[in-house]
Amino acid sequence: MSMLRSVITGSGSYLPPNIVTNADLAKTIDTSDEWITARTGIKERRIADKGTLTSDLATKAAQQALENAGIDASEIDLIVLATATPNRVFPSTAITVQANLGITQGCAFDVQAVCSGFLYALTVADNMLRAGNFHKAIVIGAETFSRIIDWQDRTTCVLFADGAGAVILESEQATGTLADRGILYSHLRSDGRYEDMLYVDGGPSMGYPRKGDQGFVKMAGNDVFKHAVKKIGSSIEQALKDNNLTADDIDWFVPHQANKRILDAVAKRIKLDESKVVITVHKHANTSAASIPLALHEAVMDGRIKKGDLILIEALGGGFTWGSMLFRW
Ligand code: ACO
Repeated sequence: MSMLRSVITGSGSYLPPNIVTNADLAKTIDTSDEWITARTGIKERRIADKGTLTSDLATKAAQQALENAGIDASEIDLIVLATATPNRVFPSTAITVQANLGITQGCAFDVQAVCSGFLYALTVADNMLRAGNFHKAIVIGAETFSRIIDWQDRTTCVLFADGAGAVILESEQATGTLADRGILYSHLRSDGRYEDMLYVDGGPSMGYPRKGDQGFVKMAGNDVFKHAVKKIGSSIEQALKDNNLTADDIDWFVPHQANKRILDAVAKRIKLDESKVVITVHKHANTSAASIPLALHEAVMDGRIKKGDLILIEALGGGFTWGSMLFRW
């Protein structure tokens, strides 16, 4: 059956140049490279300079994605940007990126699902493209997560970092089978009963706990770890079952880069060969909504991901929000 599919035709990413190693952190808080490496797999992360905004990182990633897709910004009619660290309360960061790219047609807006943001944004854009009202989209995950971290709290500050990744989605006629290129399946979930396990302790409506700050990330690390493995694992199992696939059919697994131990546990649970897992957490840390497109772009550029490969992505974030997606490159 002929149908529209959203095909990823290019990717891009941007990381701020400032590298902060585990040893750097150990100079200001009571931690060590050994502890961080053993518990998370993280060795270093990128932190944006004070004047660099989420929109700056996002714009650079989007420009590279446009270039790699070989299309001009004037052809874009939709921008969906996932972030938990927007430039400001409003307007959306996507609007600023739209202006930075010189785009004056179509629409742009933000999606907020924290670490699952890119998965949610891709799903929203895919549905808008397949409905036929929009044709070429930029989907971005971008964060300056360092701005909502308490750098004295060793239980959170070693985990998170800044960066941006983007893809171009173009609608194309396809056959409606799993052999098509493009987004083939999306499974999104959320459950607000868990909002106290991972949250920011301030905001415009509830007010701010400390004068002059914007609130900081608070996390029940152990609980988040257990929920992540269970919920991501069952979402992927659902995705494979719904499409009559097994882990052997997946060419590349590009997970949200939260923690190496979570990635290992999920891969083991779904019986996926570890050589198929794209890992960047050791050098990017957890960049929330930016982590999947950052990892995806790296595996595309170094030649691992090739045209026709079947890609599985997944994420879990504050809320909780979580899910998985299958697409063919
Ligand atoms: N350096 C040294 N010691 C530390 C640090 C640190 N940075 N942080 C905590 N500790 C200490 C604790 O204080 C505790 O000490 P105590 O035993 O004297 O009380 C000890 O280390 C063990 O703490 P736990 O919290 O039990 O350590 P755990 O093994 O659970 O590891 C971690 C903590 C890494 C946060 C883990 O729970 C985890 O990875 N959770 C998942 C969280 C995550 O990835 N969140 C990202 C957002 S959600 C997502 O993207 C999926």
